[in-house]
Amino acid sequence: MSRADTVELVYLLCAVSFIVALKGLSTPRHARAGNLVGAAGMTVAVAVTFATPGLHRALLIVGAIALGSAIGLPAARSVKMTAIPQMVAAFNGVGGAAAALVSLAEFDRSSTETGLGTAAAVLLSALIGAVSFTGSAVTFAKLQELMTGRPVVLPAQRLINLLLGASTVGLVVWGLAARSVLAAVLLTIVALVLGVLFVLPVGGADVPVVISLLNSFTGLAVAATGAVLRTPLLLVAGTLVGASGTLLTRMMSQAMGRPLSNILFGAITAQPTTVVTGDSDDRSVRTGTVDDVAVLLAYARQVVIVPGYGLAVAQAQHTIRELADLLEHRGVEVVYGIHPVAGRMPGHMNVLLAEANVPYEQLREMDEVNPQLPLTDVVLVVGANDVVNPAARDLPGSPIYGMPILNVDEAHAVVFLKRSMRPGFAGIDNALLYDPKTTMLFGDAKDTLNALVAAVPTA
Ligand code: TAP
Repeated sequence: MSRADTVELVYLLCAVSFIVALKGLSTPRHARAGNLVGAAGMTVAVAVTFATPGLHRALLIVGAIALGSAIGLPAARSVKMTAIPQMVAAFNGVGGAAAALVSLAEFDRSSTETGLGTAAAVLLSALIGAVSFTGSAVTFAKLQELMTGRPVVLPAQRLINLLLGASTVGLVVWGLAARSVLAAVLLTIVALVLGVLFVLPVGGADVPVVISLLNSFTGLAVAATGAVLRTPLLLVAGTLVGASGTLLTRMMSQAMGRPLSNILFGAITAQPTTVVTGDSDDRSVRTGTVDDVAVLLAYARQVVIVPGYGLAVAQAQHTIRELADLLEHRGVEVVYGIHPVAGRMPGHMNVLLAEANVPYEQLREMDEVNPQLPLTDVVLVVGANDVVNPAARDLPGSPIYGMPILNVDEAHAVVFLKRSMRPGFAGIDNALLYDPKTTMLFGDAKDTLNALVAAVPTA
């Protein structure tokens, strides 16, 4: 076997390792191993590239890897779990930019002898990579609260989009016909603007879906770059990212009960609606003490715990498990109701509860737990809000209308552990907080859960 064949074979094995990694990531039990397999495949691929004769500017590449690692490694190690969506957005954006820049550089080097297929791949990579870069930057700014999380729609947004769309088509045709580097650069600039305008109208709770979509865009840009460089490994890796990102986007929009087009363009096409939220001033709220709630829980037959983003913020996953263990010890049946978009990233609650070794058998998905809720004595909502907000079911015009929710309002009693009456991620009122069957126990979830752990044994 020639040296070139051996290199191709190793690349092929690396591509297989990425597929094995994705398979591993599909179950919590094998996720860590899957991650390691993928990382090992990537390390081997980079090492083989360096070992291949004829690599130009190796020092520059080493410098770039060192710089990227110096920024990426501490960022990934120190990031809080609640800020992972922002980090994914940032990493995804630079991935898209890199794919676009590499393709443009290759085009610049060889544009006169570039074939039609390669020119198309360059333009595709530049277009999608640039949209992904600025789009991801805006999602980062929204999630990091560097700008408003509300949809931002420019006065002539439709006209601007139309002009940008027409320029994009024109520049692609020019770039293809003349193999023009200038057309590719201008296309990249238009795409940078498109990326910003694409994400600005997307509102708060929908941003993670867009991150997932941009992730799949970056995958496609990388795959196109793989075609430009004639590197099958890059093509396979990019296609895998593109396909998995597309599937995740689909699953997230399904979990939110809304078509993707509505998530992306809802704010642009929306007719003004009045959302009836009720007048919060004339509604009363029932607050309870730790002892009241401890008695309610200790004497229940079934308790369903609904965790949400606030549980992650309070880092109270171990304390909630302690409380559940205490209740079970007293003969109370305890399960956890998991909403697919509770928290801030797919599987957030599963990961959080797994950290505290909550047995998987106690976790119930939304469709499984909803029929049980009318028979449930107490639902303990810990740092969740939007995922139990009946407005999603009952209030047409509400930004979350149509999202399937956990119907906790059907249980006999509901207890909310949260710090205030402030809304959740979607920024909307939750009438369930004012329901006569609801008891509010205000405070940081870790503090109130610790107090409950102390109070339940003597209840
Ligand atoms: P949210 O609706 O955001 O509600 C979280 C609640 O936790 C808030 O009302 C907050 O109230 C409370 N909280 C925050 N810190 C707390 C603390 N230290 N102790 C106690 N409570 C605390 O969360 P959710 O119900 O999990 O819903 C998720 C939302 O995020 C949905 O709108 C979803 O669409 C969106 N989203 C989902 C994802 C994915 S894929 N999971 C990603 C991004 C966004 P106080 O401030 O009063 O304490």
